[in-house]
Amino acid sequence: MSTSWPTIRFILNGKACAVQAPPMKRLLDVLREDLHLTGTKEGCGEGECGSCSVRMNGELVNSCLVPVLQAEGADIQTVEGLASNGKLHPAQQAFLECGGAQCGICTPGMLMAAVQLIERNPHPSIAEIREGLAGNLCRCTGFMRIFESVLALSTRTPEPSQEKVHHAR
Ligand code: FES
Ligand code: FES
Repeated sequence: MSTSWPTIRFILNGKACAVQAPPMKRLLDVLREDLHLTGTKEGCGEGECGSCSVRMNGELVNSCLVPVLQAEGADIQTVEGLASNGKLHPAQQAFLECGGAQCGICTPGMLMAAVQLIERNPHPSIAEIREGLAGNLCRCTGFMRIFESVLALSTRTPEPSQEKVHHAR
């Protein structure tokens, strides 16, 4: 007798996606095994290293801790969703130019955390970059080149549009 798993639907990198999977299967495994998006990496498998970071409804999550059931109806972005029209995302370009990646295991998660940080705080200080990437561990780079990559990214990020303030006189 074959098991028929429920169909779980969500938006993945801007496109509608449906997958049949055990509801408690980790989102990380569904992405890698069922959807063949192997950019998202597994490091610890315990929510400690951030290698498996993806964005879900605009929040950074560790996909090793998310049962795919929780992704129902969500908007999910993985590292594969960063580049567009064959052009690297500015974060990817900055990591490339500044040597922010070595073995690459932490890099997809770092990129997602960097994009998340810069969206919320386009011009962070080094301390704010450290804090923004605190959930992501790297065993190779010693972190400085990653922080420099995010700093380089921030210099290429336009100022957020200023709200016009009208003072009543
Ligand atoms: S693999 Fe998910 S946090 Fe380490
Ligand atoms: S580049 Fe190897 S773990 Fe970060």
